[in-house]
Amino acid sequence: MSEVAGLSHRIDDDGFVHVVFDRPGQKVNLLTPEIIQALDREVEEWRAREIVRGVLFKSAKPGMFIAGMDVEEIAAATDAFRAAEAARFGQAVFRKITELGKPSVCAIRGTCLGGGAELALACTIRLASDHPRVRIGLPEVQFGIIPGFGGTQRLPRLVGLLPSLDLILTGRRLDARRALRIGLVDGIVPDAYLEREALSRLAQAADGKQSPRKRRLSPMAMLFERVGPLRRFAISRAKKRTSERVRPTDYPAPFRALEAIEAAFALTGPQGLDLEARIVGELVPTSTSKNLIWIFKTQTALKREAGGIQASPRRVRRAAVIGAGIMGGGISQLVADKGIPVRLKDVRYEAVLDALKTAGGLWKHQLDRRRISRREAYSRMAFIAPTLEATGFKHVDLVIEAVVEDLEVKRAVLAEIEARTPDRAVFASNTSSLPISDIAAKAMRPERIVGLHFFNPVHRMPLVEVVAGRRSSPEALATVHDLATRLGKTPIIVRDSPGFLVNRILMLYLNEALLLLGEGVKIDDADRAMSTFGLPMGPFALLDQIGLDTANHVAGVLGAAFGKRLGDATTVLGDMVTAGRLGAKNGLGFYRYKNGRKLEPDPEAYKLAGASAPRELPAETLQERMILSMVNEASACLEDGVVREPREVDIAMVMGTGFPPFRGGLLRYADGIGIPIVADRLSRLAEAQGGRFRPAGLLQEMVRGQRRFYG
Ligand code: NAI
Repeated sequence: MSEVAGLSHRIDDDGFVHVVFDRPGQKVNLLTPEIIQALDREVEEWRAREIVRGVLFKSAKPGMFIAGMDVEEIAAATDAFRAAEAARFGQAVFRKITELGKPSVCAIRGTCLGGGAELALACTIRLASDHPRVRIGLPEVQFGIIPGFGGTQRLPRLVGLLPSLDLILTGRRLDARRALRIGLVDGIVPDAYLEREALSRLAQAADGKQSPRKRRLSPMAMLFERVGPLRRFAISRAKKRTSERVRPTDYPAPFRALEAIEAAFALTGPQGLDLEARIVGELVPTSTSKNLIWIFKTQTALKREAGGIQASPRRVRRAAVIGAGIMGGGISQLVADKGIPVRLKDVRYEAVLDALKTAGGLWKHQLDRRRISRREAYSRMAFIAPTLEATGFKHVDLVIEAVVEDLEVKRAVLAEIEARTPDRAVFASNTSSLPISDIAAKAMRPERIVGLHFFNPVHRMPLVEVVAGRRSSPEALATVHDLATRLGKTPIIVRDSPGFLVNRILMLYLNEALLLLGEGVKIDDADRAMSTFGLPMGPFALLDQIGLDTANHVAGVLGAAFGKRLGDATTVLGDMVTAGRLGAKNGLGFYRYKNGRKLEPDPEAYKLAGASAPRELPAETLQERMILSMVNEASACLEDGVVREPREVDIAMVMGTGFPPFRGGLLRYADGIGIPIVADRLSRLAEAQGGRFRPAGLLQEMVRGQRRFYG
């Protein structure tokens, strides 16, 4: 039999084939066309050989079964017909495993996603180990496609309609316990005994002692499956929920997945599989899928490459957070959640208490949703050691400072802490607007001082900006980059400059929205235009969320640095704050709020903004002005060396502001329009609206050199 890299097999004395996945030199096992072809040849052989009594699929890597199909394959496919054929081939191989006439067992001791989970679904028995890395799921919709090797047909038949809708439409991954609860695996076994138990179950099945495929559907699940109207009701409800989240034109995959899942009950097996393959074929070439895969790959690459820093990180084993406010509290919860002991200091007793309460609330939420056990919740809480004294810093490797945004206070905190921490300790400030080099100006060890800018709310926002001060050492930067990655964030290394990257680009966008407001554009029209574009919310709803005082402060810093480009639109923010309007947090912003719920725009806001007579502009005009402001500023950021590459801008905007992932990022979007067109539109806007739209030098240069941001 042919050998293929990453797949080997042997037949043991009992006639069981051990198929081992082990991609050489890699941490992750992936399915490739070669591996699927090799599996096909092997299945044919097992079928033919009398001595083979059953098959065991396993991985040689700890914490890993198969992470899915190689995304490079999906990224490279551009032809619907060929993509559908590739899915059909995979389906055929997995069907041969199901119809082998000999039992098969899948031993899952870690990540088991996409094609890996579909292989498991094709087996007679699925056993998971108790390894903490066990995660089973079908995340294809997150790549803009649907499962294509029979997953949309086999999962509903195995676990029922409702759990399948949940798993396939969200791409959620289940740990072993939850997989067992819905019947996705047949048992959980201690990691060390997994193979032994799998072989024993295989032997029982081969001897006809265990009837394969015991389904454990609840009576309710049975009803949903068997009663047509009930099933259609569940599906239409899922469709409604999906439409509340995304639009089918932007993200077609979950809607198409619904079609395939419905077919699992309404059509025959082969018809269902055929539909599944056809849908995969149609989705693979879409720009949504290409963009989502690009984001996934780029994000992974950025984490690995660490912004090109040539230094080894120091592993953070103990940390401290100074300032237990909104940000400091959130950061200490996140650090403790990852099992890193953290000293949390504030000068106010109530602040520490509030931080602990909020952290406890987040763990309780996870506990209620059964994501963690009660023991885990308590032990994570115990990783936070609160204090009002400057003690307990002797052994920390990293201090994250999140006190009030005031240079003198931050310097005083730094001076106090530097004297109490070891020489190796890195001091990272979470400042949103102060230059790191200024904070570090009088430091004893300025090379150990960096910026680590989290976004609010800390537990939810996936981006952090790692700010390189003038004297920050590569090792200090590498250390915080490594920690941010361990905290599950995507870190981007940025130069120490006003507004860093995200707030600088965002402020130009918000500025444009405020100018439009002054021209008489309605608050909700501007917001609607941007939600339609695909942003999670429009500029005014966003300003209300950020807090008008905070936004005003950042606008002040950026105004001082880039005054001309901003004009005086942001004075509106100052006027709003003076009038006691702080946004959602005090229920008074551009919108009115009741019990935290956003109501209609507040007429008072129009007055304070000095808005002209109401004026209606097409959504496209509003989008063009607001989006092109960002494209222009992002180009200026690249020109100024705030980040090194366009992909850093794109990932930062997607992760930090929710720029629509299906569009692939701000600069990829600009490339899609065409750089000469972007520059031309900006020039025309500059003539009509003013110099702020004058195309950035980099854009003009790109037009002359016929270059794009990418390739
Ligand atoms: P906050 O006002 O909620 O918390 C600041 C905390 O620092 C307070 O609890 C205060 O008692 C404490 N504090 C003041 N002086 C101290 C000292 N000498 N030692 C110890 N604790 C002291 O402020 P927030 O919003 O958490 O901001 C903190 C930092 O994070 C600021 O630099 C801010 O610019 C930055 N930031 C804020 C974001 C936000 O959305 N709130 C987003 C990103 C960064």
